[in-house]
Amino acid sequence: MAKDFNAMEDSNRSGNASIHDVSDPARRTLLRGGVGAAANGLLAPLAGVVSLGGCASAAAGGSPLLGFKSVPVSTADTVTVPDGYSAQVIAQWGEPAGVSGENAAFKWDASNTAAEQEAQLGMHHDGIHFYPHSGSTAGLLVMNHEYVDEGLLFADGFANWSSEKVRKAQAAHGVSVIEVQFKDGRWEIVRPSPWARRITANTPCGISGPAAGHALLRTAADPTGRRVLGTLNNCASGKTPWGTYLTCEENFIFYFNGPREPSAHERRWGLRPGNPAGGRWHEFDARFDAARHANEPNRFGWVVEIDPFNPSHTPVKRTALGRAAHEGATTVVAKDGRVVVYMGEDARFEYIYKFVSRDAIRPGGLRANAELLDHGTLYVARFDADGRGRWLPLVHGQGPLNAANDFADQGEVLIKSRQASDVLGATKMDRPEWIDVDPRGWVYCTLTNNSNRGAERMAPVDAANPRANNTMGHIIRWKDDGDFTGTGFSWNHFVLAGEPANARAEAQGNVKGDAFACPDGLWVDARGVLWIQTDMSTSAIGRGELKALGNNIMLAADPRSGEIRRFLVGPVGCEITGATATPDGCTMFVNIQHPGESPSERSDSAAPRRHSNWPDFHPAGRPRSATVAIRKNDGGVIGT
Ligand code: FEO
Ligand code: CA
Ligand code: CA
Repeated sequence: MAKDFNAMEDSNRSGNASIHDVSDPARRTLLRGGVGAAANGLLAPLAGVVSLGGCASAAAGGSPLLGFKSVPVSTADTVTVPDGYSAQVIAQWGEPAGVSGENAAFKWDASNTAAEQEAQLGMHHDGIHFYPHSGSTAGLLVMNHEYVDEGLLFADGFANWSSEKVRKAQAAHGVSVIEVQFKDGRWEIVRPSPWARRITANTPCGISGPAAGHALLRTAADPTGRRVLGTLNNCASGKTPWGTYLTCEENFIFYFNGPREPSAHERRWGLRPGNPAGGRWHEFDARFDAARHANEPNRFGWVVEIDPFNPSHTPVKRTALGRAAHEGATTVVAKDGRVVVYMGEDARFEYIYKFVSRDAIRPGGLRANAELLDHGTLYVARFDADGRGRWLPLVHGQGPLNAANDFADQGEVLIKSRQASDVLGATKMDRPEWIDVDPRGWVYCTLTNNSNRGAERMAPVDAANPRANNTMGHIIRWKDDGDFTGTGFSWNHFVLAGEPANARAEAQGNVKGDAFACPDGLWVDARGVLWIQTDMSTSAIGRGELKALGNNIMLAADPRSGEIRRFLVGPVGCEITGATATPDGCTMFVNIQHPGESPSERSDSAAPRRHSNWPDFHPAGRPRSATVAIRKNDGGVIGT
């Protein structure tokens, strides 16, 4: 998300930065290139890896990993892809999702009602995965809708604020399940579809795992602590090997009106008096007034599991994976069949987590794995200065996680995972965003930026986060000992983002190829290409150290050589976030979020086309987040 919500959050004042005070950034290079060979064969069961070959010109053995010509930097209001490629817009905000009997068309003046929005694609697309049901020509796209811009969502913005407006904003959040098919050379949404579904901020969800029913999750509306309405601020996402979708609740706290005097727990999660982000849901939906319903925020910040092919499935918040401003949840299968989930928490000085299931995956979809994500161990990462690291277990009764430190039970450890990570001495990171794993077993995590790194009274630089005033961000990677379930790991930096022409040495980076800043989305495709998507904030694009970088982009990287090449440039004011592909690798779906975003972050409803009118360029329209389907004109595998 480009709104500076994440940069507003700076609530980690724990003292555990001091363990890194002795770190030496120069040592980060110790492991570079030194461990790759040992990992060959580690990742045979990597989820989602399929053999390619169904395309007209599938890459033959010996082809270079990056076979396209870099696209130039651009500030144009369009999507640019390499020569020989085409990008087709297929799923804009407001298009009917294909829910039977619900076909209200998008109205260019944003006058669709809340009820209409409930059956239309939501706003601000983010994480996305493809679930094929007919090879590579038809299936489901499941995607997140992270947040809304009230200046575009409503014809008159915040004016005449009402219950109806709150309901429409809530309906534009959540998740869309749409069916798509490739027909006559183009992708299209299938309408109606038996699988089409909208999950919103008001869809009933279950709560499972160790914290389900906990006193801290009970509210007046839900005395059981096991049922909650909706999912919020769904950012990145994951796809499980048993066929479900994991949607992740990121900046949930900014939907809540804080009490005049927040508790220490509330402050640690960023709750402030009033609503500094300008949200106004609490005026017509009392559960978002944390001064009156103190436990409601505890019911958000979870990873939520959805069964895309079962439209009546109740989404489940999996508390065993911990509570965080979750960016994503990336699954890998260990040698013994257990599932490992890697998760970043995108806020300044927050942490990287992994969950290791107790049980092995069983054949048979969600029904056979209904409790797989309810039992296991959650860990938080500590990156040591010698290039090694430890996964520290968040287990009640172990170490300092006991009643003396205000953790009464495992449920409280999970609800207060930030505080638990603080006392364990986890490493405070520069805003961990997406995570993915390459075929050699390296796990990559984008650390998008942190301009407060090294600031007085905040955490100093450390080995893993080596640059003060980190405006550019970096990508860290690690390899767990033995298997993904190991509790020790080796790590190094894949790249420090930056632009060589900058005067400040720490903003120059060490990119081998095309310069970039603020890595966010990250995805490893079936060939092992590492796709990197950027999210320079709209207020910073084209200015200062980012001046030469143009609009936000998607790049492709070769994880072995480290070469990075610009593949796509987005329209004005957007971020690029979310990528997935058909099994044959011949269509890539990429999400373009918040085109035309105002530097002031909420659009002027009186001038909705001021910054962009992508993708429709309708004379009376407005910019719309959308999915684009990218194909090679010769029908070949993307990237070759
Ligand atoms: Fe939703 Fe951290 O991006
Ligand atoms: Ca993001
Ligand atoms: Ca971001």
